[in-house]
Amino acid sequence: MANIIPKEFIDEVLSKCSIVDILSKFIKLKPFGHNYKSTCPFHNEKTPSFSVNTNNQFYHCFGCGSSGNAITFLMKFSNLEFRAAIEYLANEAGLRVPELDNETQVDRDRYDKAYSLYDVIKNSYIYELENNNEALKYIKSRGISSDVAAMFEIGFSSADWDKVTNKHKNNHALMAELGIIAKGRSDKLYDRFRGRIMFPIINEKGACIGFGARTLSDEMPKYLNSSDSFVFKKGNELYGLYQILKQKKKPENIIVVEGYMDVIALASFNVNNSVASLGTAITKNQVQKILRHSNKITFCFDGDAAGKKAAWKALLNVITFMHKGIYVKFVFLPEGEDPDSFITKHGKLKLAEYFRGAKNLPDYFFHYMQNLHMGDDITTKANLINACQEIIETIPKSTFRSLMEDRLNKIAGINIAKVDSSQFKSLNTFKSKSNTPNKLLAMIVQQPDLIKDLSDEKEDLISLQQNDALLLEICSFIQSMDYKLTTAHIIEKYRDNDNSDFVCNLASTEILIPSKNRLAECKALLAREKSLLTQESINALLKKSKAQKLNDEERNKLRILIELQKRTKNTS
Ligand code: UTP
Ligand code: MN
Repeated sequence: MANIIPKEFIDEVLSKCSIVDILSKFIKLKPFGHNYKSTCPFHNEKTPSFSVNTNNQFYHCFGCGSSGNAITFLMKFSNLEFRAAIEYLANEAGLRVPELDNETQVDRDRYDKAYSLYDVIKNSYIYELENNNEALKYIKSRGISSDVAAMFEIGFSSADWDKVTNKHKNNHALMAELGIIAKGRSDKLYDRFRGRIMFPIINEKGACIGFGARTLSDEMPKYLNSSDSFVFKKGNELYGLYQILKQKKKPENIIVVEGYMDVIALASFNVNNSVASLGTAITKNQVQKILRHSNKITFCFDGDAAGKKAAWKALLNVITFMHKGIYVKFVFLPEGEDPDSFITKHGKLKLAEYFRGAKNLPDYFFHYMQNLHMGDDITTKANLINACQEIIETIPKSTFRSLMEDRLNKIAGINIAKVDSSQFKSLNTFKSKSNTPNKLLAMIVQQPDLIKDLSDEKEDLISLQQNDALLLEICSFIQSMDYKLTTAHIIEKYRDNDNSDFVCNLASTEILIPSKNRLAECKALLAREKSLLTQESINALLKKSKAQKLNDEERNKLRILIELQKRTKNTS
């Protein structure tokens, strides 16, 4: 069943709960001006840099950079899932998570329909496999026993163009949305998966949400995967996780491999703790998902160039979690081998032996970096230090990070503390993207009621649209709310969105302008931005006029723009 809570309810919960009351149940907050301070619960520190802003309903640690609203805090501090965090807060606010209304019921029905459709199709693929000799022969040739095939619910899609299409005539729209069928020439629908071994992708709750599909031959593409849909986000799912959790609630260690067949081959040898990242380099969401179940991850990569590249990407995504005291190792198989071929050729014991030689994350990190910057001259050393430091700075301040810095010190033979690390803080997206729209955004995100007083400037806001769609989106969100909206609500709107880190940065960036002067500052920034945009258009037209004759419309536009620019200069 889908985990849907109406957005309005979440906003109401955020409005009714005081972040200070909630956080005080878990950590010791001390009043500090209008706000509260504490030592940070997310990293080791002696002097408090964790600050809770009562107006904004937002917390931020100036040490490790973690930030968010009450929901984020509960998810991080108490390891609650999103829904559980809302339920906790609702309870505190004396609210009940609502029964589903009609509209949400429709949404839930949509999910349930997708799950049951996937379930039916998955079962028909299983049936198809049992009755297709060629497919069964292939399965056998890959060393997959019937027990393992059953465990992973492996199936086969018939070579027909429209078997599935014809079977589910009432569900064509949904099937197209899920990427099971597609439209061909003259709008004829056809099955996307044909003549392929089908690997159902099962989510943690046991629902089939997509497929990986392998050819029997060497035809390209070797694998077809379900496209992302409302039930399936490739970057969030891990193939095989459900099967692990079915056997063991708390697996000691989770092995991450690259392919479906690797997970299956390992399971054939009774190695029942591996997941595959669905063909892309592992994402932060996938890492987070693994860490909910185990604090030890072993990444196992093919011994080829692609494997090395994927490993480094994995390192960059996992290193930001290292302050949590997790254990991360990297194994590189011999050139040309993947976990499937290795275990099939050499057996479980040999693989275990190979795994004993795994590199832990710090070793792999420094080894990789030193290889990349080899040489004793000062420039190479400086590059090495800077490159390492830039990545180490993405780890929240912690004992782990200090130890990484110590090791870099030793390698470089100097004391990094002497290196000005402030230059690396530009990893913070806000600073690197700092421009007028972002300054405006930061003020509006931190003080949403400014919008009310900016209605005269609405037109200017709209002219900024091309430059900053996010700004407009946030503004219209603020205007659409009929009760007092805080920073916490805006953070919530962007949870699980590509912009979520950026919006958190906006919320936590320090604005040195006193609150009473911010409206004037916003107006000035808008005026300046508008003038810049006008100037840009003028310059473009002038440049064009040098190369060719402008047409009437362009000449007219140029005249109006110049007029406008003059007027703004006179009034300012
Ligand atoms: P591999 O090429 O290593 O495949 O791709 P594999 O899993 O070892 O499969 P076999 O042994 O050849 O049968 C690793 C993963 O990358 C994704 C799949 O998730 C695959 O399991 N992939 C690969 C695709 O999505 N599409 C492709 O065409 C190839
Ligand atoms: Mn393989």
